[in-house]
Amino acid sequence: MSNYDSLIAIAKQAREMAHAPISNFRVGAALRATSGKIFTGCNIENATLGLTCCAERTAIFKAVSEGERRFEAIAVVADTDTLTPPCGACRQIIWEFCGDVPVILANLNGQVVCETSLGLLPRPFDSSFL
Ligand code: THU
Repeated sequence: MSNYDSLIAIAKQAREMAHAPISNFRVGAALRATSGKIFTGCNIENATLGLTCCAERTAIFKAVSEGERRFEAIAVVADTDTLTPPCGACRQIIWEFCGDVPVILANLNGQVVCETSLGLLPRPFDSSFL
């Protein structure tokens, strides 16, 4: 798991930037591109709730907006005893932009589990169907 220690540490730092005045549930993400660059994200809430952007999507959209197209892993950190998995919308976006990559779930107590995007979203819909 040591391969992901620094990615987890960066996701923890990104969590500090969360804008979560409604839920108070702070999430951080760190996405590693094949270029070696790391993109961070936090959850960003707003008054309409429905326009909230999760930490994972913030990180992916930042990376894509800066020209990155190939990714190798994403780490997600929240302060929960049961490790927080990505929501359904994020699973779709992780699959479409990252393919079948490791999705590393971690909390502030050092617990870590490594999932995969395909494991989290079996039989996904994507542009191959269009
Ligand atoms: N959230 C994330 O940012 N990522 C997840 O994996 C789960 C949920 C955020 C969205 C919202 O701001 C808050 O957590 C509560 O749902």
